[in-house]
Amino acid sequence: MGMKGEGGVDLPEGMDGRVKEALDMWGIKSLYPPQKDSFPAIAEGKNLVVCVPTAAGKSLIAYSAIINKVVKKGKKALYIVPLRALASEKFEELKQLNRLGIKVALSYGDFDDDDRYLERFDVVVATSEKADSLLRHRTRWLSDLSVIVADEVHLLNDKGRGPTLEVILTRFKQLNPKAQMICLSATVKNSADIAGWLGAELIESDFRPVKLSEGVLYGGSVRTSDGKERALTADTGDPVTDAVLDVVLHSDDGKGQALVFVYTRRNAEAAAVNMSKVLGSRLSGADTARLTEVVDGLGGSDSRIGKRLKQAVSGGAAFHHAGLSNEHRKLIEVAFKERRIKVLFATPTLAAGINLPARRVIVRDWKRFEQFNPQAPIPVLEVKQMFGRAGRPRFDTEGQSYIYARNEEEVDLLMERYIWGEAEEIYSKLGSFPALRMHILSSFATNYVRDMDELWEFIRSTFFAYQNDTWKITTDVEDVISFLEEEEFIKVDGDKVEATDFGKRVARLYIDPLSAVILRKALLSEPKKLTTFSILQAACYTPDIHKMFVRRKEYEKILEEIYSREDELLMDIPTEKADYDFFLASVKSAIFLLEWIGDGELGMEANEERLEKLFNVGPGDIRSKVETAKWILYSMRELARLFNSPMAKAVDLVALRVEHGIKRELLELIGVKGVGRVRARRLFDAGIKGPDDIRSSTVQRLSSVHGIGRVLALAIKNEVLGPEGEILEEDEPGEEEVGTGQSRLGDFS
Ligand SMILES: Nc1ncnc2c1ncn2[C@@H]1O[C@H](COP(=O)(O)OP(=O)(O)OP(=O)(O)O)[C@@H](O)[C@H]1O
Ligand SMILES: [Mg+2]
Repeated sequence: MGMKGEGGVDLPEGMDGRVKEALDMWGIKSLYPPQKDSFPAIAEGKNLVVCVPTAAGKSLIAYSAIINKVVKKGKKALYIVPLRALASEKFEELKQLNRLGIKVALSYGDFDDDDRYLERFDVVVATSEKADSLLRHRTRWLSDLSVIVADEVHLLNDKGRGPTLEVILTRFKQLNPKAQMICLSATVKNSADIAGWLGAELIESDFRPVKLSEGVLYGGSVRTSDGKERALTADTGDPVTDAVLDVVLHSDDGKGQALVFVYTRRNAEAAAVNMSKVLGSRLSGADTARLTEVVDGLGGSDSRIGKRLKQAVSGGAAFHHAGLSNEHRKLIEVAFKERRIKVLFATPTLAAGINLPARRVIVRDWKRFEQFNPQAPIPVLEVKQMFGRAGRPRFDTEGQSYIYARNEEEVDLLMERYIWGEAEEIYSKLGSFPALRMHILSSFATNYVRDMDELWEFIRSTFFAYQNDTWKITTDVEDVISFLEEEEFIKVDGDKVEATDFGKRVARLYIDPLSAVILRKALLSEPKKLTTFSILQAACYTPDIHKMFVRRKEYEKILEEIYSREDELLMDIPTEKADYDFFLASVKSAIFLLEWIGDGELGMEANEERLEKLFNVGPGDIRSKVETAKWILYSMRELARLFNSPMAKAVDLVALRVEHGIKRELLELIGVKGVGRVRARRLFDAGIKGPDDIRSSTVQRLSSVHGIGRVLALAIKNEVLGPEGEILEEDEPGEEEVGTGQSRLGDFS
């Protein structure tokens, strides 16, 4: 018999009592059945694959395993998630363990770092890419891990993120065979494969703590899984709008909210704006007042996205997609959680793992564009994940999830496939050439693998090998080895393989080996003219930079750019069609970055509105593009050093300018704390061109610059004067305290 807690939670024998303390702290009165089923295995330290429906409380299973181990001295845990947003949610919850003396860190960001400071923490939450990069740096504390959690482990099936997740789990299996692995998965058909692969106990269940009624929305009514049909209140005649109004305006407790999944960002924005027109006039005065606060919080952004967002929010609706700035995205999530925003139109990126108070989910678009099928139906697994955002335990006591049929024929099809149908099987995606290229190099570079035998031993313990005969990839592996050898990433001596300095550096930089080949070629070239464009174009040609699609009407402009800048190119213009298109795309990306750093047509740092207009990107895209470019330029500079390239200095300068989005002339100002790209530009244009000018200007004069209030002026001045020269403001500060310039993207400070 286990210990009986007052709250009714029964801990099995061998489980540390502090798990109970944590459960109490989180207000858990009793365990859900899948949690109860998992506890004995946790207590025994077994590996576990938990494959249960959405909202069944999988995280708590992992948390309990973590606490059970890390309360013991010197034991550590790693919680791996696919996305940063999810990392933050898990971190916020785990952080509360501080009260039990458990220290928790959130780790993302810089890939070229061993983050030794993480040693001081007991639990680290990280994305799979970050975990991979830590492995590549052979970060010491990784061998102290006693629990490894993989959340959303069904993403092994994902072409993009799957291979990395698979490789790190395989590596951990070899590196820490004693560590306990806890894998949390959405419902998939072949969960036994994952369990078999990891030698784990499998917990399966169809338990869901909050009833979720699933159905197909068509016309004015919903057909649910039990075959019943229910008519919705008809307000407008548009089925999706009515299904939203039905839950928002006609629920008994007045707390109904809806989350609608659409496929494109444009659709999300348009739908939210339209919805706000219908919904806004029907909201109470109190609701509207609470929304006005949100609109005010969104700040003075006049980008198209910002304006649309404010317009939508004023009427109780909002949209959520990767184009939003981080600040706006967070504000929207919070306002939705606070039940201010009533309906959220989101792209599928919001689907995985997140807890939201959506009583009703509507999947409006169930087809999407794929390379070989422009009308590909979304997998059942993904629709179920979206469905699962409705009816979350802490927010609601029941949920409804509907998928939208556009015509009568679709109704039966959707019932069959998504309501009664089962989620697909998942398959390893490690067998692709780029994935193998990346991970085989890292295996050698990190010395985890030292010869061909060990490489095959590693491959044989992957999920891929568990599901396939490895001979299927023999040729691919051999091709990868030849590629790596020819490009001098590795030296092969009989069976022995050793990474070169180049190979080692590239693996730690966390870039695709093919990117490194391109960068090396660029760095060793001798262009007639080396310009900022030269460097940016080469960086943007690497596969690690996302392609910026070149539209037909842009072709000519891009071609012109190429021909007028032929002297500046660091590489030959490819002739093969696919490479050629990629080359054009790289030029477009380079032009984008030139605009960003003030070397574009305008001759001035482009603001959000301009970038949005020219490149159809939102603030969130700008940020992620800048971040990626910064990382590749950093890598380029590191490689320049390795190869003693005379371009090193130039690359350094470009990297710095891209990081801050500025012309060279603002470099001095950007070094001052509190000064971002917008303020730097304003100060510069007002004649204040560097720290010396700040020192010699009065606070009065500084604060007369648009966007710089007196408080900030004083702060900047003191920053430049240093602790010795600090001055205090005697006057009462005026009204317009906070500058407006800072709420914008790209101020970064
Ligand atoms: N035993 C419990 N009693 C009450 N609430 C619980 C219990 N277990 C978990 N919860 C709550 O249920 C919610 C959903 O849990 P969690 O996020 O772990 O779900 P999940 O199974 O990971 O779902 P998803 O597949 O969507 O990621 C959380 O808010 C959590 O705090
Ligand atoms: Mg989860």
